Amino acid sequence: MDGQPPSKIVVKTSGIHNKGVFTTTFISKGDNIIEYIGEKITKEEAEKRAEQVRLKAKQNPSNGSVYIFNLNKHYDLDGDLPHNTAKYINHSCEPNCEAIDEDGRIWIVALKKIKEGEELTYDYGYDIEDYEEHPCKCGKNCCIGYIISKVQWPKLKKRLKKKKYLINKTIQKEEWIKNAPFANPVLSNTSKNKTPDFSSVPNATMMNTPKIK
Ligand SMILES: C[S@@+](CC[C@H](N)C(=O)[O-])C[C@H]1O[C@@H](n2cnc3c(N)ncnc32)[C@H](O)[C@@H]1O
Ligand SMILES: [Zn+2]
Repeated sequence: MDGQPPSKIVVKTSGIHNKGVFTTTFISKGDNIIEYIGEKITKEEAEKRAEQVRLKAKQNPSNGSVYIFNLNKHYDLDGDLPHNTAKYINHSCEPNCEAIDEDGRIWIVALKKIKEGEELTYDYGYDIEDYEEHPCKCGKNCCIGYIISKVQWPKLKKRLKKKKYLINKTIQKEEWIKNAPFANPVLSNTSKNKTPDFSSVPNATMMNTPKIK
């Protein structure tokens, strides 16, 4: 495998985020579409560069994305080079490509047949840490809502369930406090000598844990 086959793809505005990469022809399953090229740098250097981009983006949101590709435990690829078309490939929760490491070179390979005009996507493989900073807009029915590795989905689903449950619990408690004691029959019917009947007050065991796909 060598070189770039750019004639099969084009960079265009994407419905997922800003720019994306689209096919200009049918692509077969297993085809090597493009190499993700970049400068090999240490994790420390990558973090520095990513922070610089994030700072610039804070000043002006159109100031670009981070194009750092996670190579291994020690190194990353900074793909922010003008001729690295692969840097524009977006993430999806149901990707049609995967990124494969072949002796330290990263290739974007078709996971399935891809029709002409489809947007190329792959699983960025992000860790669950800081997931809230990376909301996913892939638009797939199965979208988990955040850009994280599929491997980490079971963990994330548990976290989201817990978070939703705690939010519901807080909302119900706030509602109850807002209405008590005057609007709440539990307290308004309570005489000085009587213990209030709290059986209608929401608590953790009474609430349904929300279902997540
Ligand atoms: C390597 S760039 C991809 C190209 C990017 N669309 C651009 O125009 O520069 C990675 C960035 O694109 C955005 N992105 C990629 N996939 C996304 C997705 N599924 N949902 C939301 N944003 C996404 C995120 O901001 C991410 O940090
Ligand atoms: Zn998604």
